[in-house]
Amino acid sequence: MKVLLVNGSPHEKGCTYTALMEVADTLEREGIEADFFWVGNKPLSGCIACKSCAEKKKCVFDDRVNDFLAIAASADGFVFGSPVHYAAATGKITAFMDRAFYADLLAGSQSFYLKPVAAVVSARRAGTTATLDQLNRYFAISEMPVISSRYWNMVHGATPEDVKKDLEGLQTMRVLARNMAWFLKCREAGMKAGVPFPVREENIYTNFIRE
Ligand SMILES: Cc1cc2nc3c(=O)[nH]c(=O)nc-3n(C[C@H](O)[C@H](O)[C@H](O)COP(=O)(O)O)c2cc1C
Repeated sequence: MKVLLVNGSPHEKGCTYTALMEVADTLEREGIEADFFWVGNKPLSGCIACKSCAEKKKCVFDDRVNDFLAIAASADGFVFGSPVHYAAATGKITAFMDRAFYADLLAGSQSFYLKPVAAVVSARRAGTTATLDQLNRYFAISEMPVISSRYWNMVHGATPEDVKKDLEGLQTMRVLARNMAWFLKCREAGMKAGVPFPVREENIYTNFIRE
């Protein structure tokens, strides 16, 4: 089984990466493969709502979002990491997740359906819980079981060296990883035992308009 760790920081090997590394090391110790995916530091557009992903089965902009969509279906779980920028997730990870989750939905790929997921954030000081709330919204609308830890999934620091001194933050990452590994093993055992996926209903889509 494999977990994809998405680093939404402009720094490939910065504070967010340091937190994700603690998750990755612990996952691997638990027998779960951990692959990194960096969103990069080239400009990345937000969603232009063209909806062409429904036909193309990928985003109209051929960039890191499509690189991610090409491998997302093969992952069994996900961790999305972001530094805090102005008490929120970065503009880059927001644009990335808007497009990745919308394109996957309209394409009908179901790359995220009932797969465990967690958000991890890094900050020098503040804005962490607001950022976690923001990232968790993508999961809650995508039928993804959100895995939690003993504290909120955050580390503090302005440099990776700072983060390595945040012993509680790193422990939170290890607990998160072990909880995710346990859930993945239960999910696999359930599927092997023949537990079926939930019955699906046709979508009702009302926009709150009453005739
Ligand atoms: C544009 C910008 C805005 C930031 N805003 C905040 C903030 O609101 N709160 C905070 O604690 N740190 C803030 N920071 C600091 C980073 O969140 C922090 O250094 C983080 O750990 C960097 O992670 P990284 O190395 O993965 O990029 C900001 C940094 C930048 C570049």
